[in-house]
Amino acid sequence: MNPAPRLPETAPFSPLQRAWLDGYLAGLFGDAEAAPAPPPAEDFPWHDPALPLDERLALAAGRPPAQRLMAAMAQLDCGQCGYLCRSYAEAIASGAETALGRCVPGGKATARALKEMLAGAVPAAAAPAPASPPAAAAPGESFAVRLVAADRLNRAGSRRDTRHIVLAGAGATGYEPGDALGVAAANDPALVAAIVARLGAAADTPVLTPDGGEAPLAEALARACEIRRVSDRAIEVLASRALDRGESRVLQAMAEGYPGAGPEDADLLDLLDGFPSARPPLSELVSALDPLQPRLYSIASSAKAAPGEIHLTVAPVRYELRARPRAGVASTYLCDRTAPGSEIAVFVRRNDAFRPPAPDRAMIMIGPGTGIAPFRAFLQERRAIGATGRNWLFFGNPHRGTDFLYEDELLGFQRDGLLTRLDTAFSRDQEHKVYVQHRLLEHAAELWAWLEDGAAIYVCGDAQRMARDVERGLAYILAKEGRMEPAAAKARLARLAQEGRYLKDVY
Ligand SMILES: Cc1cc2nc3c(=O)[nH]c(=O)nc-3n(C[C@H](O)[C@H](O)[C@H](O)COP(=O)(O)OP(=O)(O)OC[C@H]3O[C@@H](n4cnc5c(N)ncnc54)[C@H](O)[C@@H]3O)c2cc1C
Ligand SMILES: NC(=O)c1ccc[n+]([C@@H]2O[C@H](COP(=O)([O-])OP(=O)(O)OC[C@H]3O[C@@H](n4cnc5c(N)ncnc54)[C@H](OP(=O)(O)O)[C@@H]3O)[C@@H](O)[C@H]2O)c1
Repeated sequence: MNPAPRLPETAPFSPLQRAWLDGYLAGLFGDAEAAPAPPPAEDFPWHDPALPLDERLALAAGRPPAQRLMAAMAQLDCGQCGYLCRSYAEAIASGAETALGRCVPGGKATARALKEMLAGAVPAAAAPAPASPPAAAAPGESFAVRLVAADRLNRAGSRRDTRHIVLAGAGATGYEPGDALGVAAANDPALVAAIVARLGAAADTPVLTPDGGEAPLAEALARACEIRRVSDRAIEVLASRALDRGESRVLQAMAEGYPGAGPEDADLLDLLDGFPSARPPLSELVSALDPLQPRLYSIASSAKAAPGEIHLTVAPVRYELRARPRAGVASTYLCDRTAPGSEIAVFVRRNDAFRPPAPDRAMIMIGPGTGIAPFRAFLQERRAIGATGRNWLFFGNPHRGTDFLYEDELLGFQRDGLLTRLDTAFSRDQEHKVYVQHRLLEHAAELWAWLEDGAAIYVCGDAQRMARDVERGLAYILAKEGRMEPAAAKARLARLAQEGRYLKDVY
């Protein structure tokens, strides 16, 4: 592999821009040496997306400022912020990055923890400048695809709605199984229109955007701003401009993160409705919002099996709050608000740390719900290259009758032998919940035998509940079948992770 080109020293970029672009080029050229390696777990014990925020912060207590800031990130190294968790923290600590709301999976909790640390014991100037280049998630590498279909994978009667998204385009070939797709989505036009109306402004009023550009108000709100999760900076702007003292006090308390102050999980429309005296100058408000970040989706197809196409498995985020329906930006952009044939701007986020094993090696895949996505890609890829390794899939969802995603395809893979084993956990088909980890435990002896035979274990899907519980289940199996103390079983699991035989892609 050729090394990635580096920017010439004379190129007119700041150190941060330089680091970012070098990271982008490294990612583009697949240069493992130049690309930032994920930090080793033993040096950064909080670097585990399955750990809750307070545990991560506790693990980093007493460490240098940049490491404590890093512990506040979601630990996915997903690149949605334009960095890795570590390099985003280093950039904030050095003062090179001032936006604290870039961590999409960490959301408000991460932004608030960062803010508290910066306001308190973490002196901004105490950290070194970013040492490792940020992740490759540059806007320049984006390309256009067409939406072909967003078909429902659940049968009629299901309470779940999971979609099989098919995207097509000339650029839809340069990806590997395990990669994710970054989607640059737009906010819901109905929400944007309601906000414009509450602001009492014309939709085409030019305003400054969070990234320093200029755009007509409605377009800025639709494409450039995070309007579902309002930044503390924007809430401070509202507080400082509220004519009503009471409103100003509540808004200020909200911006400072006082529990119970103001409406929970307020979007921009909630704040404009709830605080009618707060009407800042448009540019002041809009530029203080966080930039709208792309969202990532695990790619569910192999480019060899679906040339020119990219498939995703997407669960649209929809819920109701304060008697108003709420919709996740990117998931509903893909599933509800984009007509077939429309163009979508996307980029491939390479994930060299989550690839199928060597063709003759066995793999065990644990992917309930949307976590099935990369494993469909793994299986398609292994079929296309004629891989001989055995394949074992654990899948779970509420009901077999309605929620067996990709049922025909998976049963077909089982029938023709590609899937050596398929074990399912339909959680709500019986009185007591049955989850994938219960199936793992039922087959502990065989699972141990597969591991002893060199199999690699893969986990994808929900980070906070499923991945943590599955990890506990795996540690229990190692302890039981390998006749180890619990601590030794945990250490064995950690070693498997280091050897690239226990891999997680969780969110
Ligand atoms: C590497 C990676 C791979 C991923 N792969 C997939 C995939 O294959 N399929 C998939 O569907 N997703 C996947 N995701 C998640 C995806 O990126 C998005 O986070 C998800 O679709 C939500 O984004 P959104 O823009 O639609 O919602 P957003 O606008 O970001 O809203 C989500 C937020 O809404 C709030 N919320 C959600 N539900 C409720 C509720 N019931 N009540 C109150 N508040 C609520 C929460 O604050 C949540 O953070 C992946 C994420 C990563 C990092
Ligand atoms: N981090 C996130 O924001 C995040 C991550 C994943 C999913 N979600 C949201 O959840 C919705 C559906 O997501 P999804 O399709 O991927 O399915 P999911 O919610 O992960 O559920 C898939 C299956 O996993 C089961 N499950 C629940 N808790 C579990 C645990 N501790 N261990 C093992 N299995 C467990 C579920 O059972 P029961 O439901 O019957 O308990 C279900 O059978 C979407 O709205 C999605 O956006 C959000």
